Amino acid sequence: MPENHHPRLDPIGVFDSGIGGLTVVAALQDLLPSETIFYIGDTARVPYGGKSRRTVERYSIEIGGLLLAEQAKILVVACNTASALAVPRMQDIFKVPVQGVVAPGATAAVMATKNKRIGVIGTRATIASGAYEHAITNRDPETLVCSEACPLLVPLIEEGMFDDPVTDQILKRYLTPLLDQGIDTLVLGCTHYPLLRRAIARITGPGVTLVDSARNCALAVRDLLSSRDLAAPPEHLGRLQVALTDSTEGFLRTAEKALDLQIGDVELRAVQLGE
Ligand code: DGL
Repeated sequence: MPENHHPRLDPIGVFDSGIGGLTVVAALQDLLPSETIFYIGDTARVPYGGKSRRTVERYSIEIGGLLLAEQAKILVVACNTASALAVPRMQDIFKVPVQGVVAPGATAAVMATKNKRIGVIGTRATIASGAYEHAITNRDPETLVCSEACPLLVPLIEEGMFDDPVTDQILKRYLTPLLDQGIDTLVLGCTHYPLLRRAIARITGPGVTLVDSARNCALAVRDLLSSRDLAAPPEHLGRLQVALTDSTEGFLRTAEKALDLQIGDVELRAVQLGE
């Protein structure tokens, strides 16, 4: 590495099990336009949402290593499942700061609720881990947390069914038990869900505040970069580089359009398949 190299110009390394983490990339670009972002979507092994902690940890550590090979100055785990299951191990292993989406989402939810009743939706693994419940009650032990695994939502979003009666019906089925508990705040605990924000708001109505993990994670990254003197100078123009672990782009172009991102050529990175 050249002697005058300063990590401030190095990329923020972001990863997700697939493409959904681009919601976090969009929020990062919005808030931190000077930062270069290197994103890896583990499309060869998606979904993580039904897998064990051991497997999700192994995958996350491997992808973290690939991002460090790109000189990432910080690792952003833009996947709720990996954040819920693997961030503590990653923080033990990696020397650079590791920022997940669960802690910022929990803080924002506690700040948003007035009646101390918070709903959380996510993948099966995220909900089973109890990570949000734990993070929320740690911040305010008097809060009641109602959680619901919503395994059908990721496929609906990947099919681009953002405004569709089928999606609304499934959302109604998942959200009714939470609404019956009187929640006034709902954590969108999966990277894909911000794309469904409008449909979710149609079901919950205006009385429920939707907490988006993408925006809150970007705010946490901004604070972390400035506290470690790692923020890129304001005159620097950030770029976005995207790599996938499988050559099929699948949902990539739908997300690119929905999130108004500019993604050029996509690179490929190899990962270990199998158990
Ligand atoms: N990225 C995952 C999450 O945020 C959703 C997709 C998956 O199951 O891998 O939980």
